[in-house]
Amino acid sequence: MAKKLSDILDLAKIDIVNKPITESHGLPNECYMSDEYINIERKKLFEEKWSVIGAASSTPNIGDVRPFDLLDIPLIVLRDKNNKIRVFHNVCSHRGFKLVQNSEKMQKFIRCPYHSWSYDLDGELISTPHIGGVGRHETEDFDKSCNGLKEVRSHIWMDLIFVNISRKAEPFEEFIKPLDSRWSEFLSKEDRELIRHPADHGYFQFKVKSNWKFAIENYCESYHLPWIHPDLNSYSKLDDHYTILSDDNSFAGQGSLTYNPSFLSKEKFNCFPNWPKSKLNHAEYIALFPNVMLGIHRDHFFAFWLEPLNNLLSIEHMEIYYVGDESAFSNKYKEIREENSNLWFKVLSEDINAIEGMQAGRNSPSYDGGKFSPIMDTATHHFHKWVATNII
Ligand code: FES
Ligand SMILES: [Fe+2]
Repeated sequence: MAKKLSDILDLAKIDIVNKPITESHGLPNECYMSDEYINIERKKLFEEKWSVIGAASSTPNIGDVRPFDLLDIPLIVLRDKNNKIRVFHNVCSHRGFKLVQNSEKMQKFIRCPYHSWSYDLDGELISTPHIGGVGRHETEDFDKSCNGLKEVRSHIWMDLIFVNISRKAEPFEEFIKPLDSRWSEFLSKEDRELIRHPADHGYFQFKVKSNWKFAIENYCESYHLPWIHPDLNSYSKLDDHYTILSDDNSFAGQGSLTYNPSFLSKEKFNCFPNWPKSKLNHAEYIALFPNVMLGIHRDHFFAFWLEPLNNLLSIEHMEIYYVGDESAFSNKYKEIREENSNLWFKVLSEDINAIEGMQAGRNSPSYDGGKFSPIMDTATHHFHKWVATNII
């Protein structure tokens, strides 16, 4: 029988997280170490929430089909004949074979390798060979129209594919409203339409030996900047940052007042046309819970999303976007795209030591979740409170 949270850890250790920051502790070791705990987390923090499973632009053409496992829940992302991204459970309605194993291009239907039942791109079951005996592909006891693929509730926002597997979360518009309102100051509706995912230097990934939560916790704070990112700290200093905490506890992060990297390329990226002129050097870095870390700047946007593989291993996917076709696709901007991608690759790879170091420390039985700086760690505490509130 699946274990309850109270079988895995002392619930008092979760309660204390929600106390005011000076009295609280961080999440206990079990939340980063226990195989049983992650099953609860999968249900409460991923299936019941809006979680990111990829970028729509990674499935660009009608008929493209891509499998994705969310903590072992097998899903299919596809682009249907109306050019719409759809997500389905990746399991055959017959004997439960996992239908799609590898990404496929330009499919008209999805055929199960086991007994060849086939589904169209709307998930409808269209073919059931020999179901009524050899040579009889229909049977009156079986209604194909009731046995299609099960669709997953999904929504595309800023090119990201969000899913709510339980179907019980609030409407997506409600979920995203606090962040949308905050960023309406920087990104107008028209400007959002301009984001483009380049074909080169627009994506990289890291595999990290750590629980996914450490990546979020590290992203929330700029406290580590002088020691982990000395180069970045030379032009975007610790004291040029401010903390961001959402009122509804759906996101947290930090902003910089001095975004102004210098590149060797003589080109400069096009900027969002309606970005406020008084805030050209502002940039914001926000973790939207559970699993995506976003960055906005006057001239590019990124989404750094997490794929937890198990409680000790995660893949970090970095998707970078530019403003309009020219910055994203033209040769003229290729060099600066590469420089910008290299810059983020360097910064984010510097964080890996920090993230993996925290994971290693959780093997210590003497550690009780640790203390927070009441000034520098408020955003990390915000995330811990989100976990503590939602895991119960
Ligand atoms: S399990 Fe898919 S056709 Fe039998
Ligand atoms: Fe960092």
